[in-house]
Amino acid sequence: MTTDSAAQSFLEYQATGQVVSAPGRVNLIGEHIDYHGLAVLPMAMGQAVRVAFRTRSDRQIRVSSSGFGVREFAWTRELAPAASGDWENYVRAAAQAIGRKWGAGRGIDAAVASDLPPAAGLSSSSALLVALALCLLRANGLEASFEELMDILPDGEQFVGTRGGGMDHAAILASRPGCASLVAFDPLSARPIPIPHDWTFLVLHSLEMAEKSGALRNEYNARRWAGTGALQRLGFHSYRQALDGRAEEELSALAQQLDPGMERDSFLHVTGEAQRVLAAVAALEQANATGFGQLLNQSHASLRDKLRVSCPALDRLVEAATESGALGARLTGAGFGGCAVAFCMQADLAKVRRSLVDGYYAGRTDFDENRHVIPVTPGPGALFARQ
Ligand code: GLA
Repeated sequence: MTTDSAAQSFLEYQATGQVVSAPGRVNLIGEHIDYHGLAVLPMAMGQAVRVAFRTRSDRQIRVSSSGFGVREFAWTRELAPAASGDWENYVRAAAQAIGRKWGAGRGIDAAVASDLPPAAGLSSSSALLVALALCLLRANGLEASFEELMDILPDGEQFVGTRGGGMDHAAILASRPGCASLVAFDPLSARPIPIPHDWTFLVLHSLEMAEKSGALRNEYNARRWAGTGALQRLGFHSYRQALDGRAEEELSALAQQLDPGMERDSFLHVTGEAQRVLAAVAALEQANATGFGQLLNQSHASLRDKLRVSCPALDRLVEAATESGALGARLTGAGFGGCAVAFCMQADLAKVRRSLVDGYYAGRTDFDENRHVIPVTPGPGALFARQ
């Protein structure tokens, strides 16, 4: 199937069936801590993965995507993975997650359309998984709560070979328009935190790809194990227990009990970042733009120097953003390439944007302003979007 026929199918299914929209997410602060059960502060973007579908009478699932071709298989409760790296795995992951909980049901003919840049740290793959899962539920007349979906979807992604924390799925599902979400785990909650009207965010692509597979997966997991290792060595069973009302100095003193190296640095990042998330919520609630910006800058410094998940391009981009008049900027998502998020006052947006285009991006033949400099308006999650 050509790109055009996938687009054509989308229009056809849209006219005769239904459409599910799952947004990308940008994490404002709280990086590499969700998998330690700590609260994070993402928001949903206006850009989204949209899937138009028609319910079938048999068990076949057939999905086409512009530029990525068609995939088709029979839906059974237990599915084998497709070839490693093939996007069919996201379709299979969605079917498997739903099938294991509710049983395999009626299949769908579906077409995917997206205005989310892939491999940019904006969760396009989780958005695809969420959208497909919601299509399969609707096709079978099933309703699932936020909690039920959070139970099955992050684990479903393990099927694809990656297993992050729950931040992406929570933000994609439960965000409210105009708000960031304070996502907490155990118990799960997503508290909407309104963003002041004169604040705005730009997602900036570093022009380095952040493929969520292979080498990056190993780097990601290494951070996760280092953080967990530090915790065990200090005798805590969770980061919540380690943090338990301790001030920064006490946590630094605790870290000194660890040998210098990745475990100690990870402990310092994770505990510092958890405190910055709470401070960022307070700054948002008080409309303290300077304070909020400083927290973003501190978060980036910690990801760069302690967790070491940045890269030279992201560091230069973050610096260029603050030099252009952003009040704060940081890498967003897993890191190792992908995007940064810059925060500025609405009144400064045009100036910041212009100066980045004329500075950081100047002379880059691979730069496309529409795709790489993305103003973000906090949009609704898939559970609250008008489909
Ligand atoms: C990836 C994961 C998330 C989170 C971030 C880092 O995006 O999918 O769960 O761990 O990395 O904060």
